[in-house]
Amino acid sequence: MESSLPSTQNLDFGESAERKDEAKSYKEMISTFPRVQWWSYYEGFWYHSMLLEGIMSAQDHFIPQSTDIFITSSPKTGTTWLKALTFAICTRSRLSGSSASALLTKMPHECVPLLEYHRAQNPMKRDCAVPLVSTHVPYSSLPKSVVSSCCKMIYICRDAKDAFVSLWHFIAELQRSRNVEPLSLEEAFELFCSGISGYGPYWDHVLGYWRASLEFPEKVLFLTYEEMKKDTAAHVKKLAEFMGCSFTLEEEEEGEVQKIVSMCSFDKLSNLEVNKNGTHSLDTLIDVKNSAFFRKGEIGDWKNNLTPEMGARLDDIMEQKLKGSGLKLPR
Ligand code: A3P
Repeated sequence: MESSLPSTQNLDFGESAERKDEAKSYKEMISTFPRVQWWSYYEGFWYHSMLLEGIMSAQDHFIPQSTDIFITSSPKTGTTWLKALTFAICTRSRLSGSSASALLTKMPHECVPLLEYHRAQNPMKRDCAVPLVSTHVPYSSLPKSVVSSCCKMIYICRDAKDAFVSLWHFIAELQRSRNVEPLSLEEAFELFCSGISGYGPYWDHVLGYWRASLEFPEKVLFLTYEEMKKDTAAHVKKLAEFMGCSFTLEEEEEGEVQKIVSMCSFDKLSNLEVNKNGTHSLDTLIDVKNSAFFRKGEIGDWKNNLTPEMGARLDDIMEQKLKGSGLKLPR
């Protein structure tokens, strides 16, 4: 099957002749990597080749600001929500009372750039007053400059079944919008169970950040979508504390925490004009409807998509893979 996404041929990750040569050499390297469908295998994980160029470029060049906080995740595990919450938390004092008003007109992905895209790697194109960068890159492949820095990271993950279903719907939507026949749910499920999905194997992605959070608890905060749903207000406070901008008593009394919870709720964000009808440019790569990032926002939607046998199979795989790690993901 043909990929729904553009080939790397037309991408231009650099402005200078030197950067153009470098982009060419990334393309040449990527063309030698093992490939399944449109996924290329690099440093133990599977990536769409168009993103690999950006990842390799970040590994070679990205220098974080010392105050940067990294929002890290596997795709479709709650990144958009976490970006909105962290953005709202850290910009609240700039916004003179109207928490997170930028989120009313800007999609969360526009507010927090993704490291894999050239835009995030260019300090000239970042709002450096917002110390947030997001990435789906696995912990073991993060740029050395990030790992060796004192920058904090916040990781979010989710029940693998819901993450898979969310991912399948998202990719199918992208493919349909490009008139490409989507992979069937069954085909995509087989690939996912064998570790092949964007930034997969899913379990290795989760384990990388889980172990880092055990080793460097002051640096890596590990969260789950399900826990965050259960008590969002407590997580907003926890996030603020971890990010070094705790709520004052006065702010708490003024209901600032609850304002952020409501502003970033699925209902609020998904009904904003910008998220209902806008499109989001994935750097220079492709345009995606913002609404694709807001599907249902529920726990357990896998039951409407997978058979109980498929669910049990993925649970077994996750249990085996996480065995001995001390991590139990919600189911
Ligand atoms: P579903 O497809 O299960 O609905 P990501 O942001 O990492 O791409 O993850 C997308 C998932 O998060 C989607 O899950 C989406 O609906 C859900 N989501 C987006 N915004 C959310 C919010 N504000 N609150 C809760 N879930 C949200």
